[in-house]
Amino acid sequence: MTTRRMFVAGGLMTGVAAAFPYTELEARIAKKDFRGITKDVLPTPSMIVDLDLFEKNLTTMAKHAKSAPILLRPHVKVHKSVEIAKRQVALGAIGVTAATVAESELMSRAGIRGVLWTKQPASDNNLSRAVALSKQDPSFLFVVDDVSVVARVEEAAAAAKVKCKVVVSVFAGLTRQGIANGQPAVELAQKVHASKHMSFEGWMAYSGGASHTKGWAARRKKSAEDLSGVNETVALARKAGLPNGIVSGGSTGTYNMDHELGLTELECGSYVFMDSLYKAVGGKSDDAVYTDFESSLSVLVTVDSRHHAGQVTTDYGNKAMAQVTDEVKGKPWLKVAKQGAEYGLLQWKDGGGEIRVGDRFEIYCSNLDMSTNCYDRYYVARGNQIVDVWPIMGRSGPAQR
Ligand SMILES: Cc1ncc(COP(=O)(O)O)c(C=O)c1O
Repeated sequence: MTTRRMFVAGGLMTGVAAAFPYTELEARIAKKDFRGITKDVLPTPSMIVDLDLFEKNLTTMAKHAKSAPILLRPHVKVHKSVEIAKRQVALGAIGVTAATVAESELMSRAGIRGVLWTKQPASDNNLSRAVALSKQDPSFLFVVDDVSVVARVEEAAAAAKVKCKVVVSVFAGLTRQGIANGQPAVELAQKVHASKHMSFEGWMAYSGGASHTKGWAARRKKSAEDLSGVNETVALARKAGLPNGIVSGGSTGTYNMDHELGLTELECGSYVFMDSLYKAVGGKSDDAVYTDFESSLSVLVTVDSRHHAGQVTTDYGNKAMAQVTDEVKGKPWLKVAKQGAEYGLLQWKDGGGEIRVGDRFEIYCSNLDMSTNCYDRYYVARGNQIVDVWPIMGRSGPAQR
């Protein structure tokens, strides 16, 4: 816990306002002049990236991909940050995976090549954008799992005089998408391959059910089960004369097993930050805690009021995406609870006597995709010092749709 009193008492500051003129914060950030900008002067709630831990996570995944070997096309929905995507590519990622056409446009227009969009263009809006993006950026790929969409893509791509890179999404344990494995999947792939305006690029098989299965051995078993039909499909397609393509899937939970289970590339996303629920799934070396990746993201919050036993009110409320499964950094005995849109709650059974109004805590989120979507920037820190600010993009308005 960091407290305002500690800074004053510790002689580091003579008072927050005197030490740092808050009115200058935005102007300094715009100039990337971070002198005097520490966590203590930030508004709350704010997202903080611990740069050392974040870099360690990126390096761990990049090294694994190289040694496995398996290609890496990390999912950006978890961070929605061009800055982070560029760092992932610099460390060897062959592109990025995106959840929406808007996210794909954002990444592609920022210069990231090899964007894979994992939902098919079902609406006219999405269809015309997928085709337009294919024309602007020939490295862009998107999935299909339905014959009617394949027909519409062919027609739109013909009209636009473009060849779209298309990946067939196959069932891998999640009922939300993916054509049935075996003959139906192969027939759809053959339609794509035989078309004039699409190239068949391979398969997408996201086994989301395996990602959070507790225990490494149980997780490996689940991933193998979920991917067995996919492997049969790939073999059948090969026999049918279809070209070998990518087999994309996987998650942070299964990153160090899927290269043995048929995938050619990984779509992992959460490993950059890790969330509190992922920590509990256990790793290969420790079945209780998943230690492969570090918790590098937190939300800095302030205690706003204290009048009742065993609880304080914070500014980490529902609009800040507080979840009861979140954890407080360094204070596992503090429980995150919900209280209101702008009112957060920290509760405890024992201790807590020292907590005062104005104290600050850092919270580890338990649903990264949802949480990062609520904030407009990451404050990037080395220790207590802010060293950069990265925008979180495409969260609302036209850029989100
Ligand atoms: C299609 C797809 N691929 C990959 C991932 C990445 O999984 P994780 O964040 O668990 O690494 C997700 C996450 O939900 C996903 O939806």
